[in-house]
Amino acid sequence: MKQVTSLEELRQARRELSAPVGFVPTMGFLHEGHISLVKLAQRNCASIVASIFVNPAQFGPGEDLAAYPSDIPGDLKKLAAAGVNLVWLPTPEVLYPSGFNTWISVDGVSAPLEGAMRPGHFRGVATVVAKLFNAVQPDKAYFGQKDAQQVAVIKQMVRDLNFPFEIAIGPTVREPDGLAMSSRNAYLNVQERKSATVLYRALNAAKAAYEAGERDGSALRAIMRKMVEDEPLAKLQYVSCAEPEKLQELDNTENGALISMAVFIGKTRLIDNVLLAAKKEGRNAFSN
Ligand code: PAJ
Repeated sequence: MKQVTSLEELRQARRELSAPVGFVPTMGFLHEGHISLVKLAQRNCASIVASIFVNPAQFGPGEDLAAYPSDIPGDLKKLAAAGVNLVWLPTPEVLYPSGFNTWISVDGVSAPLEGAMRPGHFRGVATVVAKLFNAVQPDKAYFGQKDAQQVAVIKQMVRDLNFPFEIAIGPTVREPDGLAMSSRNAYLNVQERKSATVLYRALNAAKAAYEAGERDGSALRAIMRKMVEDEPLAKLQYVSCAEPEKLQELDNTENGALISMAVFIGKTRLIDNVLLAAKKEGRNAFSN
């Protein structure tokens, strides 16, 4: 596995890769969720590029940029073992040299949910992902359903800015008790770790109600809200039952929905989501 830092090194190493090239951008402290995207990419791509960059532009004031967990030696071992060909570890100076002044704002889909709670977050995500795309020039890029709104924002940007490749989405990888894998789970103490399963429990309760015939968006949101409110260490930030591409809240979920939430467990902010499949020829109308 080749390891590069500067843009020049990256471009040189990129030229030597066999096509098609799959790209998996990350912020490091890698877990099986990240590695599952590498594995997914290997199904369709001859070479895999991964990047590790904790992007300051997507963290708000008071968020966990300074505390964001890091283990570059461990990450490199995992990527090499997974068969990644090239890993790019840009420094902040490589991506945001002094005088940097161009930003990408994806309107509409960036506004609700995570966008409302974390102003500027998706501007930071869209800007860095566009820069990573321009540098790596992948044939396909891979993202996790875990960050469903990020997927929607990046798909919109890829369409609007004519990036000449497709985005592929990998399913959320979970711990055995259902907690979605996340680098931020490292912040949880033992008690908080137990409480953290409430996100998946609440999503599953809403999913069970949906499968039993409940189609009212407010009723599904109420089921999730109640379960989180009953968990002592959890503090609900939002619950949503929305149309999966534009993320507008739904009254009627006849055509399927994305149910999602953000919850503080102690000081740690966790997000999770589940797609509710519309029964159309056995396939979810929104599946990728
Ligand atoms: P990061 O949180 O490191 O996640 C990198 C990729 O892994 C994202 O596409 C994310 O959705 C995916 N991922 C995270 N947890 C997952 C899980 N449990 N199962 C499946 N996939 C999972 O998302 C980012 O970094 C950044 O915003 C980035 C896109 C790199 C831009 O800075």
